[in-house]
Amino acid sequence: MGLSSSLSIAIFLLYFTSVLAGPDKKKPDYLTQIDGLDTDYYRKTCPKAEEIISKKVKHWISKDYTLGASLLRLHFHDCAIRGCDGSVLVNTTGSERYAKASKTLRGFDVIDDIKAELEDKCPKTVSCADILTAVARDATHEIGGPYWSLKYGRKDGRKSLAEEAEGVPMGRESVTGLIQFFQSKGLTLLDLVVLSGAHTIGRCSCGSIQYRIYNYTEYGLADPSIDLKFLNFLQRKCRQASEYTELDAVTPTIFDSVYYKNLQQRMGLLSTDQMLYADSRTGPLVKALAAQHNLFYQQFGVSMKKLSKVQVLTGDEGEVRTKCFAFN
Ligand code: HEM
Repeated sequence: MGLSSSLSIAIFLLYFTSVLAGPDKKKPDYLTQIDGLDTDYYRKTCPKAEEIISKKVKHWISKDYTLGASLLRLHFHDCAIRGCDGSVLVNTTGSERYAKASKTLRGFDVIDDIKAELEDKCPKTVSCADILTAVARDATHEIGGPYWSLKYGRKDGRKSLAEEAEGVPMGRESVTGLIQFFQSKGLTLLDLVVLSGAHTIGRCSCGSIQYRIYNYTEYGLADPSIDLKFLNFLQRKCRQASEYTELDAVTPTIFDSVYYKNLQQRMGLLSTDQMLYADSRTGPLVKALAAQHNLFYQQFGVSMKKLSKVQVLTGDEGEVRTKCFAFN
């Protein structure tokens, strides 16, 4: 099949599935322009903010490549609860960081380090929510993913509750549950499938998947949707819950569309990943993205930009923290 015909199939699928996803519950496009965010938000008050952030991200990832994936995930967990308001960063008893769903989150030191430098250069100016948004973008780019432009002006929230953070999807949900969760944030079916592609990098604690590989059925058998060779590999690798295994077993450190190809080979690590291929609403998109790396690469930036605007606080709806781990 020629490139142009496969592209038109993909475009058709994207259109078709966004229609299937139902009406976008968020503001229509012309109104999202007035989201209170601005490309030039720090132009006068902290013109070097983006430069400072990107240098720091480069520095940290050059010391530890695995931080790239962790920083991307941190932004998702932030936006998934109370919107992108830096609530995941707060370190007080009972805050989101203390939820079970936050147990393997990493990268907090990177944010604190960046915040310290920004407070030095432009005190009380750059919010933690904006820092985390830019960090996720820069980290993705640094490990070979796409780059996208951002608007700024998010304020930091004044609430962070562990029990709310238990609502972040952790891999045992149904596809319907995932679709509903994403829709409640104004994100479509397409955003769900594309953003799940973040699992092309990074790792997963064995504790999160042991139920799939050892004792899934009532007869104590593994999840039958897992490829047998892959199952064998996982059963040997994941004896201890505290061990880790790669989310994309084939190209774990490369930001590519092989994650989707793995799903076609029954090699999705999380049950939620694997089910995206089996489900008739999401399966056609998995196929289109598996076939076209460029489509994934380009759409990932588009969907991340949408993610970064979920329920943002602006103006006096929030504060600019001086330390990202504590309310002012
Ligand atoms: C669609 C629903 C999602 C589910 C059910 C899910 C679930 C998970 C789980 C269970 C892990 C491993 C946690 C552990 O260590 O045990 C993980 C890791 C990860 N997730 Fe997701 N996730 C979802 C969406 C996303 C999104 C939207 C992004 C980013 C845009 C993302 C980025 C990541 C990354 C990069 C990692 C690896 C982190 C690391 O290596 O430190 N996930 N996810």
